[in-house]
Amino acid sequence: MLSKRTALIGVAVVATMVGAFAVWYFLTSPSSALLRPNDGQTVARGEQVYEDHCASCHGVNLEGEPDWKSPGPDGKMPAPPHDQTGHTWHHADRVLLDITKFGLKKFAGADYQSKMPAYEELLSDADIIAVLSFIKSTWPQDIRSRHDKINIAAAKRAEQ
Ligand code: HEC
Repeated sequence: MLSKRTALIGVAVVATMVGAFAVWYFLTSPSSALLRPNDGQTVARGEQVYEDHCASCHGVNLEGEPDWKSPGPDGKMPAPPHDQTGHTWHHADRVLLDITKFGLKKFAGADYQSKMPAYEELLSDADIIAVLSFIKSTWPQDIRSRHDKINIAAAKRAEQ
């Protein structure tokens, strides 16, 4: 027979563990995440948006344009890949949403000449989140985890 005291200690231990787990979960879960790479419906919608609006420059397989690290003859940068070989995954969700919505001027300065269109008037935020969710869904698990951490770090910076 368990004594009342042992039972109480047991309850206290379990409660502490649950509490510790809750704190750990809160601190590590990407609560700032806008993208939903695990949501099949969002990803399917995003794949369609990608084919219609992005594939012509960023490539049907997200491979980007050849020699994308050097400016073209017009002095403008070619479209980078959106797969793990590019740097799309280096940016937090919010930054990716803003680049797609407003173009690069917001980040690179008003004078920066870029071929990347601003989709503000062409796509809803939901469509942009869907297409970026599709892009994230194609990354290998380790890159997705690293991107989750980038989101958490960006959220912590925003809180400061
Ligand atoms: C007309 C060609 C073109 C189309 C269409 C296009 N892009 Fe781009 N995109 C570019 C170019 C070029 C760059 C690099 C811009 C620069 O550095 O000047 C870029 C850069 C980006 C970046 C920044 C990537 C990074 O690593 O910094 C994101 C995000 C992006 N595009 C998303 C999209 C999405 C999403 C779509 C479709 C809704 C799209 N683009 C459609 C040409 C295009």
